[in-house]
Amino acid sequence: MDKIIIEGGRRLKGEVDISGSKNAVLPIMAAALLTEEESVVTNVPSLWDVHTMVKLLRSLGAKAILENGCLKVKPGKNLKPLAPYKLVKTMRASVCVLGPLLARLGEAEVSLPGGCAIGPRPIDLHLKGLEALNAEIMIEHGYVKVRAKTKLRGSEIYLGGGYGSSVLATDNVMMAATLAYGKTVIENAACEPEVVDLAKFLRKMGAKIVGEGSPRIEIEGVRKLHGAEHQVIPDRIEAGTFLYAAAITGGDILVRKMEPSHLNAVIDKLHQAGVRVEKFKNSARVRKNGRLKPVDITTLPYPAFPTDLQAQAMALATVTPGISVITEKIYPNRFMHVPELGRMGAKVFLEGPSAIVHGVKKLSGAPVMASDLRASAALVLAGLVAEGATEVQRVYHLDRGYENLEQKLTSLGASIRREKE
Ligand code: EPZ
Repeated sequence: MDKIIIEGGRRLKGEVDISGSKNAVLPIMAAALLTEEESVVTNVPSLWDVHTMVKLLRSLGAKAILENGCLKVKPGKNLKPLAPYKLVKTMRASVCVLGPLLARLGEAEVSLPGGCAIGPRPIDLHLKGLEALNAEIMIEHGYVKVRAKTKLRGSEIYLGGGYGSSVLATDNVMMAATLAYGKTVIENAACEPEVVDLAKFLRKMGAKIVGEGSPRIEIEGVRKLHGAEHQVIPDRIEAGTFLYAAAITGGDILVRKMEPSHLNAVIDKLHQAGVRVEKFKNSARVRKNGRLKPVDITTLPYPAFPTDLQAQAMALATVTPGISVITEKIYPNRFMHVPELGRMGAKVFLEGPSAIVHGVKKLSGAPVMASDLRASAALVLAGLVAEGATEVQRVYHLDRGYENLEQKLTSLGASIRREKE
């Protein structure tokens, strides 16, 4: 396993290009299964999760090749309906092949994703939606098996439960509905930009979809879909991570190849924290603008503050004078970064779904352990500003969702290197 060593104290300056969105490309790769024809997807980031999805597509019988950010997927006629445990256990997003396989083959068998560091990852909403499309659901031996009773039929689906909206459940139902007989209405659909990007790709394949980006999506089933070409949107979470990197080091960064409108809630909170963010068409310039001020943050579904930037915002809060309250409403125990930040001198106290952060003057570098993708990013951010060296272990978590992170930070002036553990 690799580790990353960071010498803190350098202000980041310069320009950085954001890669394509992990959370947009993964469901788009699954959607390519909806036709036997070849689809070409560009601006694809080279990430562990993307490579895992390529392996999964191949294990299902599709041809899939990723070269220089360009992915070619040709599912062909002989798809298999089984997504094996050994691949699904490493990446929860594998669950989004359920909908396409069910729509294409009339059946699918996917290993239950199980939990991960940020909490239990149920799929009850996925199954509720597919069942509403006339699928039969069976759960046995750690696998979920779905089978169309006759043909998938469109229906009105309220995709909610004890919780608000679900991104991948919306994706799964939307993909399955594209080939169902009749009209499907998804109420309480997720509005994330990644869902919108998937809908755009499906429409290029010939799907009839309106309403994406709103809580009500309507899909008119069609008989067949064809291959399509699509460029993936920029990764808003990677972009947000770099906004926080500039803020925490008191630097001055131009973040390019990003979509500022995908980060309005985050940029609003940075402004409140005393950070200057200037938005341009496909970039944003971020620099500190005087003393940092404490802000309170609550994570909620888009367009509110995203859970995937909660840990990064907390890293900034740990060195912001005063008290900041960060409340996590998506994954209530997504606080694995708190004890690790504590090892660096941060003062964070958990109260149920909230973290009370007392800003300290200085963090001190220390060996810390990454636990999940975004917690790892927070530890890197803290290391950039801590006194001395910080050693982040188990960086494979980072490699799941950040392309060339050390190279990008080095180009901005950070002292960061990777070593074998
Ligand atoms: C997507 O996961 C993202 N992953 C996550 O990003 C992100 O944190 C999450 O959306 C929320 O924005 C991908 O897109 C690949 P959800 P998803 O279903 O779709 C509960 C990252 O770091 N829920 O929107 O799996 C669930 O437990 C990852 O890039 C149910 O109760 O998330 C959670 O509390 C982490 N039943 C909430 O809904 C269900 O059937 C939101 O989950 C499904 C979800």
